[in-house]
Amino acid sequence: RFEQSLRPQFLSQYIGQEKVKDNLSIFIEAAKGRKESLDHVLLYGPPGLGKTTLATVIANEMEVNVRMTSGPAIERPGDLAAVVSSLEPGDVLFIDEIHRLNRAIEEVLYPAMEDFCLDIVVGKGPSARSIRLDLPPFTLIGATTRAGALSAPLRDRFGVPLRLEYYEVEPLQEIVVRSAGLFDVSIVEQAAMEIARRSRGTPRIANRLLRRVRDYAQVRGDGNITIQMANEALEMLQVDSHGLDHIDHKLLTGMIERFRGGPVGVETISASIGEESVTIEDVYEPYLLQIGFIQRTPRGRVATRLAYDHFGYVFPEHNDH
Ligand code: ADE
Repeated sequence: RFEQSLRPQFLSQYIGQEKVKDNLSIFIEAAKGRKESLDHVLLYGPPGLGKTTLATVIANEMEVNVRMTSGPAIERPGDLAAVVSSLEPGDVLFIDEIHRLNRAIEEVLYPAMEDFCLDIVVGKGPSARSIRLDLPPFTLIGATTRAGALSAPLRDRFGVPLRLEYYEVEPLQEIVVRSAGLFDVSIVEQAAMEIARRSRGTPRIANRLLRRVRDYAQVRGDGNITIQMANEALEMLQVDSHGLDHIDHKLLTGMIERFRGGPVGVETISASIGEESVTIEDVYEPYLLQIGFIQRTPRGRVATRLAYDHFGYVFPEHNDH
């Protein structure tokens, strides 16, 4: 995929997430110094912040291979056995959406993580027997949007839990400039800033907007991304000043108009706007919480004054939120 070429290969190319990089660089250098595999890493945080990218960066820095799979792809213990049996010493096994592993797989994973061995049952009925496979030492990198959905015993087996945060505008702008460079397209600083401001703190969104703005500038302009080209393209894409799209819009105006701003439960919002509640919880809510447009209360979500102001509604002063 073309996307691949935008991904940084090493920590030194990876922009932002300074805390995560500081931590990782120490643990990587220490593990390499001891000629050991890196301890298991759990990457968690909202989608699009670079968890997969970071997994490949870690493998590159450790100078090992990375095997990629996901929670839903591992249905049976045999699926896990097939993946881990190809690992070489020190390799990285990346499991995306690790919160979606079923319990039976989790049970098989524990000894694999702790003792690098796999107990699997082969055969059925009376002839069924358990065999133990020895594995090379490896690093499990798990990624999840919801660390809270992991069972405690699984979570506790990661020696390096790292939380990815939404990016500030400045590092996002740097990412846009870097990506434009890789696309070999010229972009003015202000245009990169505008794309960054409207990307919800998320590099994946910044790179996607950059692609669309590049298309627009190529067709409507001379290919160079000026501030005018960026503004026109972003308007056409219906991405507002905060980067909110029509689903955020529907969600917030729905809360305001139909539920007087809340409190309202996610399931109710979900039914009312026709978006899946997990998508609302994992994708839309985290950013709206981050920018203070909604708040969580024990009785449900509420829209804040900032949200009312942004969408041009009068905030009801008698509200207790
Ligand atoms: N492209 C996407 N995310 C990036 C990051 N964090 N640093 C550099 N380039 C990126």
